[in-house]
Amino acid sequence: MSLRPAPIPDLPSPVLAIESSCDDTACAIVGADGTIMAEATLSQSGHVPFGGVVPEIAARAHLGALPALVRDVLARAGMRPGDIGAVAASCGPGLIGGLIVGANFAKGLAIALERPFIAVNHIEAHALTARLPGIAPDGAPFPYLLLLVSGGHCQCIAVEGVGRYRRLGGTIDDAAGEAFDKVAKMLGLGWPGGPAVEALAREGDPAAFALPRPLMGRAGCDFSFSGLKTAVAQKLAPYDRDALPHGVAAGLAASFQLAVSDIVADRIGHALDMMPDARGLVAAGGVAANTVLRARLTDIAHARGLPFAAPPLRLCTDNAVMVAWAAIETMREAVARGLPIPDDIALRPRPRWPLGEMAARLAAPQAGT
Ligand code: KG4
Ligand code: ZN
Repeated sequence: MSLRPAPIPDLPSPVLAIESSCDDTACAIVGADGTIMAEATLSQSGHVPFGGVVPEIAARAHLGALPALVRDVLARAGMRPGDIGAVAASCGPGLIGGLIVGANFAKGLAIALERPFIAVNHIEAHALTARLPGIAPDGAPFPYLLLLVSGGHCQCIAVEGVGRYRRLGGTIDDAAGEAFDKVAKMLGLGWPGGPAVEALAREGDPAAFALPRPLMGRAGCDFSFSGLKTAVAQKLAPYDRDALPHGVAAGLAASFQLAVSDIVADRIGHALDMMPDARGLVAAGGVAANTVLRARLTDIAHARGLPFAAPPLRLCTDNAVMVAWAAIETMREAVARGLPIPDDIALRPRPRWPLGEMAARLAAPQAGT
């Protein structure tokens, strides 16, 4: 049985999408049935000396990269611009300079081609990626619990339908990826830190250091990582940073990764208690690429008889396929509700764009408006 959505004849297809909300410049072309026709993601290296994303550098790099990237993706798909049915771009939340660059490029293309422009909420795109055909064996039916863990976000979200999201909890200080990045910096590893910490942790003993698990066991599903990060700094204090023994660094990386996994496992257990109708657990965002964390989440879901799904690594981190897919889901939902295909050409990119506001765009117009 094919899990590809039944084609809707009037749906504009394929969708060319752009992602530029942080430090990755990405473009993809995806058909309305979820077929990925071409995709490319460029990671910006200009931030490495600064150990974090510099917004001004990011915006300029997006501007420089986009024209050739879009042309390259069209060529890889064997398409001409006129073959595109709709254009989409991340319009928030994110770094405003990059969002403006990506959204305006996409809008220009949509105007020139006389195609609809769909503004995509970056978090919504992460939230819906697991529904891309071929990722979850059951197609990730609604409602499901989403754990979004990236460099800028750490949230538990009840995904009840396209445009229907309920935030159950989230971090009260650092995001999980931010904690990985900061610990990586303390250990003298490169940036971004998550993959480097995970690689080093493989060589260390997770029981080597006793680290705290903030908020563990507390009611609700909020997260806190800043105390954990401070504890890692304290464990490092007696050592000369320039001559840190490999065993100590690896042991700390492993102990930190275990602490994060314990915290997330505990919080997700609570979140599932708060969402008894969940039909599955889905993880998304860069930190969901972590294999230790994925294994823990799989265990938690299976212990409750629920499926666990997470996109493949390249679709966990920022990418444009998820942006195209969110646009397709939005258009499908609009058509299913008898609404016109959205055209967001007048929508301005927004550094903050709460998911709770997404329902309004799919609400039926009030009589007389
Ligand atoms: O979703 P993402 O690509 O960008 C946004 O923040 O939106 O996530 C990037 C974050 C970085 O903090 C990076 O260190 C973390 O995801 N990350 C990981 C791993 N791969 C990426 N953290 C832990 N383990 C990994 N394997
Ligand atoms: Zn992201």
